[in-house]
Amino acid sequence: MNHEHQSSGQQLSPSVDAWRDVVASYQAGHALPRAAYTDPAIFELEMQGFLRDHWFCVGHEAKVREAGDYFLATLGGESIIIVRDREGTLNALVNVCRHRGSRVCLTQQGTATAGRFVCPYHAWSYGLDGRLLAARNMPEGFKNDQHGLRKLAIEVVEGLIFVTLSEKPLGLAHVRTALSGGATAYGWANAKVAFQETYRVHANWKLAVENYMECYHCQPAHPEYARRHTYARPMDQNGPADEAADARARAMGIEVEPVDFYGRAAHVGQEAADAIRSALMGESQTASRDGLGVAPLMGRFTDYDGSSVFLDVGPLSNFLAYPDHGIIYRFVPVDYQTTDLEVIWLVKSDAVEGRDYELANLTWLWQVTSEEDKRIIEHNQQGVSSRFFTPGPYSLQEAHALRFVDWYLHEMTLAADSLSQDLASVQHV
Ligand code: FES
Ligand SMILES: [Fe+2]
Repeated sequence: MNHEHQSSGQQLSPSVDAWRDVVASYQAGHALPRAAYTDPAIFELEMQGFLRDHWFCVGHEAKVREAGDYFLATLGGESIIIVRDREGTLNALVNVCRHRGSRVCLTQQGTATAGRFVCPYHAWSYGLDGRLLAARNMPEGFKNDQHGLRKLAIEVVEGLIFVTLSEKPLGLAHVRTALSGGATAYGWANAKVAFQETYRVHANWKLAVENYMECYHCQPAHPEYARRHTYARPMDQNGPADEAADARARAMGIEVEPVDFYGRAAHVGQEAADAIRSALMGESQTASRDGLGVAPLMGRFTDYDGSSVFLDVGPLSNFLAYPDHGIIYRFVPVDYQTTDLEVIWLVKSDAVEGRDYELANLTWLWQVTSEEDKRIIEHNQQGVSSRFFTPGPYSLQEAHALRFVDWYLHEMTLAADSLSQDLASVQHV
């Protein structure tokens, strides 16, 4: 038996065992068992299997329009350099030097004016496409072309940059359908990033995602949001408002097609995605403090339609479109008890701060809402960590959180099965 394989098998099997226990104690229609939110072995399995097959939005293309522009993104615990090269191609480079593994790029965002990244340790230098350009004093036979930075698959859809750690990633057909039905009319491909904020939440990432997926908590926890979004009410109260908003959008020649590709069977081989249209309250033009517009209309909008579109992609990337601004809502799992919520505000590409929009006004609602979410998610984690926690049933207003949990269980079971097959084959070596 190969000892190296044996030891990695021993490390991974506790994750599979822990997962089997979660599945055995899960009760349909209820929140997940405590271990799913508190056991580092489950987090390990998520990172090994589940999260790695998917696509993740790392930001908007507007941040890297020119050759040399780059920013760092974190994905599954990895640091990735997103950089535009001289040919105009966008690259996702793993930020790990091919010499002895130092971080190569240390600056969060910038422009590599010399057209290269120089490792701060021993000064190997890499091109914007990841190729190794120079390494001093290496022995004869050393080949630069075998020591480029590792590259990951990267795709841009409606200006949104998606990256995957997988070598055989899921397809993006459903993502393209959902975003073309949602984001195209809003002109997101030509948006600019107005502001970005990261909220560190001391809770498991699934509590943060479930919280985002349901609005049962919105009336008690988000009075500001609930004043603008009908989504804070039970769905059966919103029919007339949704129809009125649809009619206003159609009058401008805008059709937003709601789609749902999150079901267990619907997305085989494809990344999950959905687009949901939801009216704003009363005469609200947009999601702002006073309900009035906060920035120039985007895309094909010639007026406010009184509506918003929620878009969800894969397990961690979410978006929200209003006629005058957009929100990218990224969940970044840091460890099993820590999650970063990254919120990015988009406006029309030629909008000028101070003239066309005020930052404080633009960002107010989702700043307030995200701070409230941080608090309630952390309280949720504290309670879920209690030995007295037993998962309770979801309400009718938490259908999307339940859909997420159901989908998560399915995906994780596939990940655990494939991992245990790998382990079984290793044990026969
Ligand atoms: S670790 Fe990067 S040059 Fe040595
Ligand atoms: Fe919330």
